[in-house]
Amino acid sequence: MDKIIIEGGRRLTGEVVISGAKNAALPCLAAAILAPGICRFHNIPNLRDIVTTKKLLANLGLTFEGDSSLQVDASNLADHVAPYELVKTMRASVLVLGPLVARLGKAKVSLPGGCAIGARPVNMHLKALEDLGVSIKLEHGYIYADAPDGLKGATIVFDQPTVTGTENILMAAVMAKGQTIMKNVAREPEVSELAGLLNQMGANIVGAGGPELVIEGVEGLYPVEHTIMSDRIEAGTYMVAAALTGGEVTIKRCPAEYLGAFIEKLVKSGTEVITLGDATLVRRTGPIKSVDIKTTPYPGFPTDMQAQFMVLMSLANGLSVLSETIFENRFMHVSELRRMGADIVVEGRNAIVRGQKGLSGAPVMATDLRASASLVLAGLVATGTTEISRVYHLDRGYEHIEKKLAALGAQISRIQE
Ligand code: EPZ
Repeated sequence: MDKIIIEGGRRLTGEVVISGAKNAALPCLAAAILAPGICRFHNIPNLRDIVTTKKLLANLGLTFEGDSSLQVDASNLADHVAPYELVKTMRASVLVLGPLVARLGKAKVSLPGGCAIGARPVNMHLKALEDLGVSIKLEHGYIYADAPDGLKGATIVFDQPTVTGTENILMAAVMAKGQTIMKNVAREPEVSELAGLLNQMGANIVGAGGPELVIEGVEGLYPVEHTIMSDRIEAGTYMVAAALTGGEVTIKRCPAEYLGAFIEKLVKSGTEVITLGDATLVRRTGPIKSVDIKTTPYPGFPTDMQAQFMVLMSLANGLSVLSETIFENRFMHVSELRRMGADIVVEGRNAIVRGQKGLSGAPVMATDLRASASLVLAGLVATGTTEISRVYHLDRGYEHIEKKLAALGAQISRIQE
């Protein structure tokens, strides 16, 4: 397994270009299942999760050509099974469930296990599929979904917003007979991106970005060409890197319009954020001020930025409370940050952070994607050397992170263990 080694204390300056969004690319690639023929995607990021998704779709009979510009041929769907060996490495594999049932009327998908940040059940996905007339059976760790007579439009109310749940049901409903109304849906930009792609493919979806979606079922969809949006969480992570190191970084292809709640808190903490077209300049000259945050579904503060923001707060001039309302166990980074000198106490869903003068480099271990990003951020600003193991977590969602940070002046390298 690889390790990342960082000598902290460098001020980051210069330009960084944001890659395609992992959490948009995954559902968009799954949507290719819906239309026989060749879809062409651009700005596909080079990430482990994309490699896993391509393996999963190849297992179903799809073929591929290219990488960041990727041709996906879904003419011949040869199978309807998403096996445990693949699903266990990436929970988002469950996104093939909706499109398979829509196109083939059946699917056998391994139940995604839990993960470091929480149990993450898929009960809402399954209940909504049953509302659409799909029979669901759980056996031997697999979801057996069957709709021999096709799907029928229905009114679906989610108990709480679910991003991949909304995406799965969107893809299932686009060819259902009649109208489907989905209430209390996720409003993340990546959900809207998927809805836009599906409409490009001939679907009829109204309301994306709002709390309610109305879908008129259509006969069939056709393949299209589509460019994946920039990754707002990658962009937010580099904004924190600039703020932490007291640097000045221009973030290009930056989807600042989808980071409103996060940017508001970053500015409150004493960082300047200046939007210049599709680029955003981020710099900090004054002290880091303590700011409380609470993660909530979009358009609130994104849970995927909580770990990164915690690093900034661990160097702030007071006490801050970070409340994590989305996942029950998303504080795995706390124990590692404490080993670097951060003063953080976890009480249930709240992390209380008392700002310190500085952090000290240490050997630490990544546990999940965003936690590993927070350890990299801490290493950038810690005195001395930080050695991060299990960086495969990082490679799931950050394209060439050590190259991009080195280009900004960080002293960072990757070694093969
Ligand atoms: C998506 O995960 C993202 N992943 C996550 O990003 C992100 O943190 C999360 O949305 C934010 O809500 C992708 O888009 C691939 P949810 P998802 O369903 O869809 C509970 C990253 O770092 N829930 O919105 O799995 C669930 O346990 C990853 O890129 C149920 O109880 O999350 C959680 O508490 C991490 N039953 C809450 O809802 C269900 O059927 C929100 O989860 C579904 C969800």
